[in-house]
Amino acid sequence: MPIAIKNLDAPLGAEVTDIDVSKPLPSADIDAIEAAWRERLVVVFHGQPLSDRQLIAFSRNFGELDPPGPNPYGQPFNKEHPELNVISNVVENGKPIGNLGDGEAVWHADMTYVDVPPKAAILHALEVPPPEAGGNTYFANMFAACESLPADLKKAVEGQIAVHDASRNSAGMLRKGYKEVTDVRETVGAHHPVVRTDPKTGRKALFLGRRPNAYVLGLSVAESEALLDALWAHATQPRFVMCHEWKVGDLLMWNNLSVLHRRDPFDPKTRRVMHRSQIKGNKRIV
Ligand code: OGA
Ligand code: MN
Repeated sequence: MPIAIKNLDAPLGAEVTDIDVSKPLPSADIDAIEAAWRERLVVVFHGQPLSDRQLIAFSRNFGELDPPGPNPYGQPFNKEHPELNVISNVVENGKPIGNLGDGEAVWHADMTYVDVPPKAAILHALEVPPPEAGGNTYFANMFAACESLPADLKKAVEGQIAVHDASRNSAGMLRKGYKEVTDVRETVGAHHPVVRTDPKTGRKALFLGRRPNAYVLGLSVAESEALLDALWAHATQPRFVMCHEWKVGDLLMWNNLSVLHRRDPFDPKTRRVMHRSQIKGNKRIV
């Protein structure tokens, strides 16, 4: 049976059904998934029990794996497969088994603090809290946000470059080896244009990375803060956003250069365990 792909009733997102991603996929299916990822930015699969090996094999259909960035503890969470990351609040023998804890993960794109950020992330749910316990993940469409910028902001972002902070993860924890930023003009991280042009389609997307410690080069701190606050308020409006409520076996693949995502906090008494891969980007953001 051919796979089926249906747009979600949201400003982004598509759901793929009639598929078993644990098996090798025909190239027509991979092409269709990639087209949905390019066009709809988040691709959702339900009911996919996967081993780490199967998650890796599925991910490799879309490019070379990009290993996780430095976590706060300085050691890979997934010892057997260090190319995978673990996102979890579970603590075993006094040690966290994964990243991001149980608090909010603020709006961000993944690893934009490096020169060539991953182009896709693939997150697989192994254990999730009950629906009422929180932990939903939200995605915002940065093409839609860019296309609907009010004229003053459109003008204000023209040609601007910003620094993307490497020091803290999206849960606000300091990564191993980084110092606290006290002046955003000294933020350490990659420099990227505030508006990205998709090399394939020429479409423009806001490319904001993460708000904490961001700075628009060449502006006064006050001007940079005002511009960034206005851009973030615009970009994260509900009209650009979809919400994902997780079930065990869900697999989400997002277009990391074209969406922002955030996660609600959840009940610390519940367990949430996700394994995750990401796909290397091809070139610097322009
Ligand atoms: C990530 C991430 C959010 C979540 O894996 O990059 O931000 O819902 N995860 O766990
Ligand atoms: Mn993330």
